[in-house]
Amino acid sequence: MEAKQTSLDQIVALCKRRGFVYQSAEIYGGLNGVYDIGPLGVLLKEQIRNAWKRSLATLDLDIVMFEGALLGPEALWNASGHTTNFHDPLVDCLNCKHRFRADDIDLAAACPRCGIQQWTEVREFHLMFKTSVGAAISSQHIAYLRPETAQSIFANFKNIMTSSRIRIPFGIAQIGKAFRNEITPKQFLFRMREFEQMEIEWFCHERDTVAFFDLWKGARLAFYHHLGISPARLRLRAHESQELAHYSQATTDVEYHFPFGWKELEGIACRGDFDLRQHSQHSGKDLRIFDEITKESFYPHVVECSVGIDRLLLTLLFEAYEEESVGDETRVVLKLHPSIAPVSAAFLSLNKEHVAATDTLYRTARAQGISVQVDHSGSIGKRYRRQDEIGTPVCITYDFDSVHDHCVTIRFRDSMQQERIPFNAIIPRIITLCGNSSAKNN
Ligand code: GAP
Repeated sequence: MEAKQTSLDQIVALCKRRGFVYQSAEIYGGLNGVYDIGPLGVLLKEQIRNAWKRSLATLDLDIVMFEGALLGPEALWNASGHTTNFHDPLVDCLNCKHRFRADDIDLAAACPRCGIQQWTEVREFHLMFKTSVGAAISSQHIAYLRPETAQSIFANFKNIMTSSRIRIPFGIAQIGKAFRNEITPKQFLFRMREFEQMEIEWFCHERDTVAFFDLWKGARLAFYHHLGISPARLRLRAHESQELAHYSQATTDVEYHFPFGWKELEGIACRGDFDLRQHSQHSGKDLRIFDEITKESFYPHVVECSVGIDRLLLTLLFEAYEEESVGDETRVVLKLHPSIAPVSAAFLSLNKEHVAATDTLYRTARAQGISVQVDHSGSIGKRYRRQDEIGTPVCITYDFDSVHDHCVTIRFRDSMQQERIPFNAIIPRIITLCGNSSAKNN
């Protein structure tokens, strides 16, 4: 299947217009590669987090959640290898002074910005944000914002294992921010300088690594299918040996066919015992575990699944965005899977006399914790279009007949078909369609 024809500009415009994502500090000119999340973006990101957590819970595996600090001491990043290895090749155009990732361009060709071929030497550019903690200035006070959530999991491996009384194989999962001083942040949410990751570190015996690597590849692909992403626009791609990160023995990416090509959505990596071994050596704390059968201590091996929420949000918007001709109008519709739609239902009144009754139905649904909106202004057609554009699966309209028959019209986003249902069927219908995720406080 071809990549969707939707352009990045259409998605960026929709995100700003409807309050999913804004350029950060826009009124001051913005900060490149950094974004603020608007009200609908907050709802959608929360849906994505919940869907990810639900997908782990249904796997029948032992997984605990963890939340590490964003700042880490230099010693942690020395042990993980990030202070030495976490860089990208950088090159500047001597003519227009534009800066590129050297692996993004052809150095044998002219600069894509100014057309002149005059490059500097390729240099390594370090990607971590460095800072210092407290008032004293010494190497002990150097800290870095984390470039991945994983390391705080490895550093806490023994703490978590002991306090949770859990045995391998088991997973530690974390959702949280990560920071990378990307040379060229681009494609909107695809490559950002501040972003959020969802990571699972799966600890197992070395002999089971291959089986769990296969299990995780299947489970992660199934997750994206469940979110409604077309299987034809998803693929697994194994890394060539020269592509592997410094910690990885084998990596397979889940790739999505973006309009700008097949790109990584999630990385699934066999990290071996690299991290626990490194942290043991650097901290002097023994992070091995004891095998009751062989009576030997050993380092568990790790299979890691890591995806950026913002990159997934962008993927879901590309996947869901449609422009359809309806009569002589164009309708923009986000065909998001109902279980992750930021708003599950919108309540509309047909005219002024129906406002109070519509509000009552809306408040009843809201009190159940369902994500709902109410809209009393504009033509019904325009209000439908507004909800279509943010992916609301159903609109509920209270009209003249509702006064007598205690029924409303429910209108479905994708088919635009309408049905008459009684008041007391509204909430069950929303929950059936959107699942328990529609009840946001679940
Ligand atoms: N712990 C392993 C790790 O961080 P990675 O491949 O560098 O591996 C994992 O990142 C995922 O995080 C990527 O597949 C992508 O979804 C997301 N990601 C990485 N860098 C990103 C960036 N600059 N902006 C947005 N998302 C990013």
